[in-house]
Amino acid sequence: MTERSRHSTSRRTVLTTGAAVATAAVGGAALAACGGEQGGPTSGGGEQQPTAGGQPGQNLTSLSDVPVGGATAVTTPDGQDAVVSRPSANEVAAFSAICTHQGCKVDPQGAELRCPCHGSVFDAFTGEVRRGPADQPLPEINVRVDNGRIVTA
Ligand code: FES
Repeated sequence: MTERSRHSTSRRTVLTTGAAVATAAVGGAALAACGGEQGGPTSGGGEQQPTAGGQPGQNLTSLSDVPVGGATAVTTPDGQDAVVSRPSANEVAAFSAICTHQGCKVDPQGAELRCPCHGSVFDAFTGEVRRGPADQPLPEINVRVDNGRIVTA
């Protein structure tokens, strides 16, 4: 049941400027310089990704609806609760809004995602746990910016 938890710490934040958008669309190393864990070199076969966004190209919200330095709750076209955040004017990120503790829906508050059930707090820009009882990060949804819309990648 928790297979994905073993390698669920990879982080991808998609740059929205210039050529970086095209790079991000490939789903590759948009942030190669990020100090986090690098993805595995394998690219073929059915490797599981810690994503929760469904099909690529699904519209989540418009870029202007997400405050810089904050996050907005959205529902994906296939009905999943998600959160889209903007670490900076040129970056977007998205995560499942379902708390990894016991499945309540987290609530964006500034740069944090707070769970109303037992008080877990997640970083709105990385999905990492800031305060338990949750001990797993929120699953990331790969996103990119397309003509002012934030869509799944
Ligand atoms: S379900 Fe979120 S803290 Fe328990």
